[in-house]
Formats: sequence, structure tokens, C-alpha cells
Amino acid sequence: MTRTHRVWASRVRAEHRSAAATADLLQRMITAGAPDDLLRVALRIVGDELDHAQLCHKTLVGLGGDGDAVEVEPTLRRGPASLEELLPSILRTVLKVFCFGETLAVPFFAEMRKNARGPARPTLDRIVRDEAVHSKFGWDSLDWLLELGGEDLRPAIGAMLPELVQHFEGVYAQRVAEDLSPAELRAGLLSASRYRKLCWRTVNATILPRMKARGIVVPEETP
Ligand SMILES: [Fe+2]
Ligand SMILES: [Fe+2]
Repeated sequence: MTRTHRVWASRVRAEHRSAAATADLLQRMITAGAPDDLLRVALRIVGDELDHAQLCHKTLVGLGGDGDAVEVEPTLRRGPASLEELLPSILRTVLKVFCFGETLAVPFFAEMRKNARGPARPTLDRIVRDEAVHSKFGWDSLDWLLELGGEDLRPAIGAMLPELVQHFEGVYAQRVAEDLSPAELRAGLLSASRYRKLCWRTVNATILPRMKARGIVVPEETP
């Protein structure tokens, strides 16, 4: 298996995990009585992520990978233990998976798409179009939670931010692939340094300012 095949197989797994995480969030948001328009977007996102998983697999095969199904490790999710835990659990998912995860995905995929040609291109075209919608869903859901949450919520979110920033910087610091070949760039791979740079820039220029605009105290810019 080449590095390109490993990357696309891991993208199949990541898209599948996103579908499961969004379906799980949708179930909790229905239970919590979230507005219908948010629920409809969440439902659409579940379908998008399943499409992305399928498209990533198609790309893997198009790039010469074998046609076997990619094994996906099942992740079991523990639901909130009580009704009091429902909104806090929704908030944690909205922040981590959408306000951070999907908002970071926007520049990552846009950058991968720039050099992509061949089988990677139509898949990345579709993902880039969808990720902007997925990210917006996160911020709209956060606004809904802020409306519900009362005065205590903003400081509570502010207190969660340093750990979230650290988590995502840690995730992208672990990438090692550097010096990508022209063929790997055409296959839609992204170097470790691009991941780190885009992560830092998106956290400081997009995510934290959006938190601040919502009256949430944000941590100092990280180097
Ligand atoms: Fe996706
Ligand atoms: Fe997404």
C-alpha cells in the first residue's frame, strides 16, 4: 500500500466517523427540541458524510488501491446519563466536531483541491462545497445553544477553549508527511507543515474571532 492509498483509506474512515458523530448529534438535538431548520441541516450532513466516505473509497480505487472495503473501527458512543447532561453533551459535540473540526476542514480541503487532478478532483470538489455548509451548521447550532443557555454559558465555553485549541494543534502536530511528490499532490495529499500552518491560521483568524464576536473570552493567540 502506498502513502497515497493509506491517506485515502484513512479519509474513508474519517468520513464514516463524521457520519456517525453527526447522526448521534442529530438524535440528541431532536431529543432536546432543537429548531427544525437545524435538524434538517444535520440530517443533510449525515447523508453528505456517507457520500464523502463512498467518494473517498472510489478515489482510492481510482488511484490504483484495491477495491476491498476499508475496515472501520466501530466507536461506541455513551449517551448523556441524564436530561441535565443533554445540552452540555450537545454543546461539547457542536464545539469540537463542528465549530473546530468542520471549520478547520474548510481550508484543509480547499488546499488539497488546489493541486488535485484525476480521481481526487471530483471528490474534493464535492467535499469542499459541503464543508462550508457543515461549518456554518456548527456556528448556527452554537447560536441556538447560546440563546438557551443563559449568562453562565459564555464563561463555561471560554473555559473549554484552551483545551480545544491544544487538542487540535496536537492532532495536526502529529502529521509527518513532508516533501510530497507531484503525483502525491495531484492525488490530493497535504504536507504536515501545510496542515499545521492552516490549523494555526484558522484557529486564530477564524475560530477564535467568531467566539469573541459572540461575547466569549478567548485564549491568547498561540505561536
Ligand atoms: Fe466529510
Ligand atoms: Fe463534514
